[in-house]
Amino acid sequence: MDKLEKALLKARQDRQGHESRHVAVQAEYAQDVTDSLPGPSVRISDAFCEQNRIIAALAKNPHADLFRILRTQVLQTMRKNEFKTLAVTSPNYDEGKTTIAINLAMSIALDLNQTVLLVDLDLRHPSVHSYLGLQPRAGIADYLSGKASIADCMERLPLNRMTILPSGASVEHSSEVLGSPQMANLACELRERYPDRLVIYDMPPLLVQDDPLTFLPHIDGVLLVAREGKTPVADVSRSLEILSATTVIGTVLNDHRDLFAKEEWLSFLDEPLS
Ligand SMILES: Nc1ncnc2c1ncn2[C@@H]1O[C@H](COP(=O)(O)OP(=O)(O)OP(=O)(O)O)[C@@H](O)[C@H]1O
Ligand SMILES: [Mg+2]
Repeated sequence: MDKLEKALLKARQDRQGHESRHVAVQAEYAQDVTDSLPGPSVRISDAFCEQNRIIAALAKNPHADLFRILRTQVLQTMRKNEFKTLAVTSPNYDEGKTTIAINLAMSIALDLNQTVLLVDLDLRHPSVHSYLGLQPRAGIADYLSGKASIADCMERLPLNRMTILPSGASVEHSSEVLGSPQMANLACELRERYPDRLVIYDMPPLLVQDDPLTFLPHIDGVLLVAREGKTPVADVSRSLEILSATTVIGTVLNDHRDLFAKEEWLSFLDEPLS
């Protein structure tokens, strides 16, 4: 067990017994509302996605199994706690947040009982659309400036049960925007619109930008990503301190090559903390 894993283990033990401060929300997972999802279905290229490590929907890609495991663990925890919204974040840039958020959302959409909305909330450096090769018609920035409705911004993937809400043009004062009453309303609308839909937010890094902090009150749970060989142990500990008032449902150690076969590039979900 290396230093980072030890730190994650210690953090998990420290947090055992941490009670969720979130009020349980109504959730009915049985109902499939696929037909009523907004937005036209867009095309994505499997080869393009694979180049960008977006592989969860590719049946023949061996790494897709890792995301099925992650999906099962995440869904179990979310359902047990009646959570509807999950933020994917990490201490710093380039640790794999977006890659994991997209793959996790895709894997969840492949579960027949679950619809999922992936929201690109990295307003300063949006990237969800580019990893999928999409050119969104509009995004959150357009919605906030009154140029588009949320329905205009939604992009439905060919996966059927998955919708994307892109960020749109880069927003400079993103932390003020994320803390605004308009964003609070949007978060509420996204949470309540469909009773069985899970909302995943791809967030900016925790220690570099204050954006995530202003939005965390609208989120039920956080999945914390750390990257082997890149994320300092102290940054993981600092992030968990910052998230102490939030429920961290688990920690993904990205780019860790030892636990599974050598060529695998994602591993390890810390046991859910619920
Ligand atoms: N396990 C991995 N092995 C190899 N490359 C990876 C892995 N995970 C992510 N990457 C690559 O690392 C880069 C950064 O990934 P990604 O954009 O998902 O990180 P991020 O944390 O969202 O970054 P940012 O903070 O800029 O939003 C991308 O080029 C991605 O393909
Ligand atoms: Mg990102």
